[in-house]
Amino acid sequence: MIFFPLKMFVVWITTLLLLLNAARGRQVCYERLGCFTDIPPWSGIPGRQLAGLPSSPEDVNTSFFLFTKDNIINYQKISATNPSTIKTTNFRPHRKTRFIIHGHLAGPDLPWIANMCRLMLLTEDVNCILADWTGGSSGLYTTAVNNVRIVGAELVYLVNFLEKDYGYSPANIHFIGHSLGAHAAGEAGRRKPGIGRITGLDPAGPLFQYTPTMVRLDPSDAKFVDIIHTHAGHLFFDFAPGILQTCGHLDFYPNGGKKMPGCKQLRVPPATRDINDLMREYRSIACGHKRSLRYYAESIVTPNGFVGYQCKTYRAFVLGKCFPCPKEGCPLMGHYADRFSNKTEKEEQNIYLNTGACPPYARWRKEIHVRVSATEIMKGNIDVALTGTNGIRKEYTIDKGTFKPGTTYLNYIDTEVSGNISKVEFLWKKHVRVLWPWDRAAEHVANPGALLRLGEERYAYPLWQPSASARAQFFHQQQETLAQLSTKALLPNWSYQLLSI
Ligand SMILES: *[C@@H]1O[C@H](CO)[C@@H](O)[C@H](O)[C@H]1NC(C)=O
Ligand SMILES: *[C@@H]1O[C@H](CO)[C@@H](O)[C@H](O)[C@H]1NC(C)=O
Ligand SMILES: *[C@@H]1O[C@H](CO)[C@@H](O)[C@H](O)[C@H]1NC(C)=O
Ligand SMILES: *[C@@H]1O[C@H](CO)[C@@H](O)[C@H](O)[C@H]1NC(C)=O
Repeated sequence: MIFFPLKMFVVWITTLLLLLNAARGRQVCYERLGCFTDIPPWSGIPGRQLAGLPSSPEDVNTSFFLFTKDNIINYQKISATNPSTIKTTNFRPHRKTRFIIHGHLAGPDLPWIANMCRLMLLTEDVNCILADWTGGSSGLYTTAVNNVRIVGAELVYLVNFLEKDYGYSPANIHFIGHSLGAHAAGEAGRRKPGIGRITGLDPAGPLFQYTPTMVRLDPSDAKFVDIIHTHAGHLFFDFAPGILQTCGHLDFYPNGGKKMPGCKQLRVPPATRDINDLMREYRSIACGHKRSLRYYAESIVTPNGFVGYQCKTYRAFVLGKCFPCPKEGCPLMGHYADRFSNKTEKEEQNIYLNTGACPPYARWRKEIHVRVSATEIMKGNIDVALTGTNGIRKEYTIDKGTFKPGTTYLNYIDTEVSGNISKVEFLWKKHVRVLWPWDRAAEHVANPGALLRLGEERYAYPLWQPSASARAQFFHQQQETLAQLSTKALLPNWSYQLLSI
């Protein structure tokens, strides 16, 4: 009996809400795209105190520019409202089709964004379409937010046309949206079930963060949704334009997702509470927000790069808690995220990795494990120089400070060196203004650099550098044998041994 009044209450509340909505709701209809209302959740809900309806499809002026391997340089304009034009273009229904959808105030970046299509065409045979909605994205942020719905409807209008006239399956469609473009892709996916993939590049946060899934990009919008967060946070709190919450199957947070190396970021937003002023102001720095585009572009031509590690938090990832990759492998951030076999196993999987501060951004994470053998405590740096099969040689610090004999040191480094390591060099950087008794002894290390043959393995005797560092050089081809290598005579009574890499 107790449930009866409760039920009545719920019904009554719902009716009241509907009445309120009806009183406030406005609607605008277009022949081609249907109707758009401003009832909740589109506006007037917490986190989305937004007024207004979208602009007309003519004002948003969504245009589609096609690039294929037969026209890498010059695009061909395609339009479903003028279908005969598609027949005369290089659009081919046997290919996958990728759309790139830009965000707010992206006009000046369009040539750069179009280059992402050209990069793809270097490596694959696809229809790559740039969706240009600068007509709807060049004004106030709030206006652009409303116009996202028109862009979503326009995308679906074209996809429906392709499906009807070419039998083109939505499963072959991949939307790649940056900022507000990510939510336009989400809106398209909501309207058109069965879209193959949506990639959200730092999806816009303001007026989307923590709103219902209907309004924003979420995993139900495509069979596979992958996200790259590069300036995630809160606009009013830390002047971040990107969404912080997970909104895909795989949510990649490179460098933690909030602050990108090489980007100067204002920690405190300018003293205004106006969302439009803030978003216009952000445009002048925009560095972190745009990194998602840069990473994605580089990933297209770096098929083994941007390995991501599933982890609870970024801090746990940094500490090496989620290293190495599990049996089923690790997902790759960017273009090849869809190669991960477990990609849709779960929603909202947090994935972390580090990148460089400038291009090329890709880094390869390695675990280095070193044991120090000495008779005394030493002060200095343990550095290694790694050379990869890609020929790049870089130095990294494993640890610094005071080293106790017999202790092992473990560190994780994000290297520029891809593939197998072909060479490891140990560098001992002693701290200055300390008189080392070994300095003299080291001068007498015999036969510096002499090579020893051992089966397939080649490695060198320690090579003494009379400057500030002692150096041992090793050559090897297989990682397992590394454990056998040690720097026996690096310094008298002092050596370190590489346990694993
Ligand atoms: C619509 O966009 C196209 C392509 O960017 C452009 O050529 C045209 O001038 C635009 N039309 C209007 C009315 O802005
Ligand atoms: C990946 O898939 C395998 C097999 O379905 C499963 O055992 C494993 O737990 C999955 N891993 C994750 C991280 O979900
Ligand atoms: C790394 O070494 C293994 C074993 O020698 C080999 O199978 C693999 O192809 C190598 N990878 C690269 C990128 O060179
Ligand atoms: C090296 O170790 C030996 C034996 O442990 C010791 O007698 C000698 O003094 C040490 N030499 C230095 C330079 O520490």
